[in-house]
Amino acid sequence: MKTIILARTAGFCFGVTRAVDTVYREAEQETGPVYTYGPIIHNEEVVRDLETRGVHVLPDRAALEALKEGTVIIRSHGVGRDIYELCKNNGLKVVDATCPFVKKIHRIVEAENAKGNCVVIVGDPHHPEVEGIRGWGREDTAVIESAEDLVRQVPDRAESLSIVSQTTYKLSKFNKIIADCINLGYHIFCFNTICNATQERQSEAQEIASDVDAMIVIGGRSSSNTRKLAEICSHECKKTFFIQTAADLIPGCLARCDRIGITAGASTPKHIIEEVQTIVGSEF
Ligand code: F3S
Repeated sequence: MKTIILARTAGFCFGVTRAVDTVYREAEQETGPVYTYGPIIHNEEVVRDLETRGVHVLPDRAALEALKEGTVIIRSHGVGRDIYELCKNNGLKVVDATCPFVKKIHRIVEAENAKGNCVVIVGDPHHPEVEGIRGWGREDTAVIESAEDLVRQVPDRAESLSIVSQTTYKLSKFNKIIADCINLGYHIFCFNTICNATQERQSEAQEIASDVDAMIVIGGRSSSNTRKLAEICSHECKKTFFIQTAADLIPGCLARCDRIGITAGASTPKHIIEEVQTIVGSEF
């Protein structure tokens, strides 16, 4: 008799679940055209399914500028203030599915600027979440990935700096950057806005993988967070299988495995996880 241990944190995090549910709800209720500003998640299957339900992806700002009617759903990453203004000016209805943890960062940025502090974001300047956060700050809002970046962007060390982080940033890296900035003599107010959904998913996967005969990691090959999960699991469990869907499971690969663990990356839909669970549970 096989024992299957499914990770509690497998698949979508709270913010993504909320955003995806919002899009499906709008697709059902809305009579006019519905759009998402960027793909709602990095999962082609979900995006295609939404297309069949009449939800179209606006690939960029130019597409939004050209739009004069319909409902625009803002994804969990959030957007800058200018995007809300653009939608308002174009007479579009906005449904905001920004993750509340990201929204909280927008509010911090506004409040810190209002106090006269300069805002610094620790994160990837090209990530949409960071671009969105930056869009709530003043012109001088800096985005850094090291203390050297800060020196270049904010040379005046007498400035009062309020530092926030991209939600998915690595805590140890964030702490090091803060310590380096303090050592350089900057006056800092630090807001650790890292969300631990990713960290929790990784720790749980590691724990399960260390205690099973085989571990299955489900997610897209191009998903960096899923690849990371697979890497962590294969350190703990030699029989780690990285699959995209249940169809990738080779019959017999779980022979003589009594305890099997399952986890999934952040953009793996629930029905794919459930399908794998069912197949593994049958005499596969
Ligand atoms: Fe997910 Fe929101 Fe955290 S989108 S990773 S719960 S910041």
